[in-house]
Amino acid sequence: MAKFLVTGGAGFIGSTFCDSALAQGHQVLCFDNFETGDEFFLNDAKKTQAFSFVKGDIREFDTLKDTFQKFKPDWVVHFAANADVRRGLERPRRDLDYNTIGTWNVVESARLSGCQNVMFSSTGSAYGEPKVFPTPETCPCPEQTSLYGASKSAGEGIISAYCHGYNLNAVVFRFVSILGPRYTHGHVFDFIQKLRKNKNELEVLGNGKQLKSYLHISDLMRGLWVLINLNPKGYNVYNIGHDDALTVDRSISYIIDELKLKPELKYTGGERGWIGDSPRIQLECSKLKKLGWGTEYSLEQGVRDTVRYLIKNEFLLDRA
Ligand SMILES: NC(=O)c1ccc[n+]([C@@H]2O[C@H](COP(=O)([O-])OP(=O)(O)OC[C@H]3O[C@@H](n4cnc5c(N)ncnc54)[C@H](O)[C@@H]3O)[C@@H](O)[C@H]2O)c1
Repeated sequence: MAKFLVTGGAGFIGSTFCDSALAQGHQVLCFDNFETGDEFFLNDAKKTQAFSFVKGDIREFDTLKDTFQKFKPDWVVHFAANADVRRGLERPRRDLDYNTIGTWNVVESARLSGCQNVMFSSTGSAYGEPKVFPTPETCPCPEQTSLYGASKSAGEGIISAYCHGYNLNAVVFRFVSILGPRYTHGHVFDFIQKLRKNKNELEVLGNGKQLKSYLHISDLMRGLWVLINLNPKGYNVYNIGHDDALTVDRSISYIIDELKLKPELKYTGGERGWIGDSPRIQLECSKLKKLGWGTEYSLEQGVRDTVRYLIKNEFLLDRA
């Protein structure tokens, strides 16, 4: 049994991770400010003695440091972030504060408490607009196109320097967009929101041809555990995504089919949905596959599963 401190443990991915760690008999402390997370996602976890949570903000170093000192985790699994890729330019300090300085606060607290193992949820957006597809981990990321990608890339840099300087062990995962139960943000969410307001018309950002890969949360979880169980030394980077990719149009066809709607599609036009939207995201994942990991869900299943979850849990759409 190990002790996991999970930042962002009340969010979509973090709460699913908490449940999976508890199911394996580990002890879990969730550290979250509940900004985008929800206590509802912790209902199962709270039934377990091995679970506790602290309401706190990773931007507040002293609270974070004290939490690490008291809990003495074996692992910090760092999900807390501003995960909203799209609105970075509206609040230009936000990604820096949450994703870069917040990440420094997390690894520094880990170091001071003697916690040696870090898992960091980075992103395929850190590649900016790569020239190579599928994009391997070794692909250079010289030019950032979003503040989100830039802030995560800087977070990766801080973690790698801590690994070299203080002998921490880190696994950095660059995720594609994740789908499935507890999903609360992203294109499926936005399209359903728009259709709730007007079922006859759907605004699509860009030209609908953007080609993106996705991954079901259950496939993601299995991938994370492969590396946590392996616990490799030093600094390690893994892409995690699906071999397949969907155009936005294809994704919409599954969403409206689930909702039994036939809206007229209105495109805003252009290759990108917004500044910083990468028209193509597809990651090369053979490094992780060589360790025995593979996907079980198709992208169509992922999109449909997400829509069904949101229909069943409408309050998540209402609170946005
Ligand atoms: N969902 C995806 O498709 C995706 C893709 C790539 C990377 N990621 C990364 O995975 C991680 C989890 O994403 P998610 O989709 O679960 O997002 P989410 O918004 O559901 O979860 C983030 C959690 O962090 C908490 N949080 C935010 N700021 C905080 C702060 N300052 N202090 C403490 N807690 C804070 C939120 O309340 C929330 O519970 C993020 O780091 C995100 O960047 C997600």
